Amino acid sequence: MITISHLTKTFTSSAEPVTAVNDVSFSVADGTFASIVGMSGSGKSTLLSLLGGLDQPTSGTITVGDQVISTESDRALIDYRRSIVGFVFQGFNLIPNMSAIENVMLPMEFANVPKAERRTRAADLLNQVGLTGEKQDRRPAKLSGGEQQRVAIARALANDPSVILADEPTGNLDSKTGKVIVDLLKSLTADGTTVIVVTHDRSLAAKTDVTFELEDGKLLNA
Ligand SMILES: Nc1ncnc2c1ncn2[C@@H]1O[C@H](COP(=O)(O)OP(=O)(O)O)[C@@H](O)[C@H]1O
Ligand SMILES: [Mg+2]
Repeated sequence: MITISHLTKTFTSSAEPVTAVNDVSFSVADGTFASIVGMSGSGKSTLLSLLGGLDQPTSGTITVGDQVISTESDRALIDYRRSIVGFVFQGFNLIPNMSAIENVMLPMEFANVPKAERRTRAADLLNQVGLTGEKQDRRPAKLSGGEQQRVAIARALANDPSVILADEPTGNLDSKTGKVIVDLLKSLTADGTTVIVVTHDRSLAAKTDVTFELEDGKLLNA
């Protein structure tokens, strides 16, 4: 279970402070496919960063399982990002001079998975997301957008996370490929993995179990 309670994030870097996330509370049960929607600037990415432990809230709490991540030390947050969450970014963020399989192996290296296991596990994950055969040895530039997103999803799964966070996972894909990726993300919830996607794509949101709508940092359907 993920529980967010009275979560607020105010950025004070500019002359005018911006409250990007404003007193947001919700819960998501394990194995849920959830979406966060809202217009550009409504706070979606900020909320995802807070959930992923990439940024600290100004106030409020985030609990993931039995861990209150909003009050964790930097060191504990590094572990959290490495072992509990997997990130899928818009634009894939793959390392261009590494093959698909090497991209998937990389997070395992950071998590000290023995070298012999990394390649086998990465190949298994790529097979699971539908990138098979010699394509696993191609660099990202030699793969289509949909294939690159499959690699990004396999990489997010590398350390067997309990939560997958995806920011606009279909943003760079044509609608047909986008549907395939959405179905793939949904399939990941079958074993209890929670998948939270940020999107402005209503057809994607319609396929999720629950949708949270933000407007100016506030949750509309509270
Ligand atoms: N690092 C930051 N510093 C200052 N303001 C920020 C920062 N990140 C986001 N914002 C502001 O917070 C608001 C929400 O941004 P964001 O979460 O990126 O929205 P969305 O993802 O819904 O487009 C915007 O007004 C944005 O300009
Ligand atoms: Mg955004």
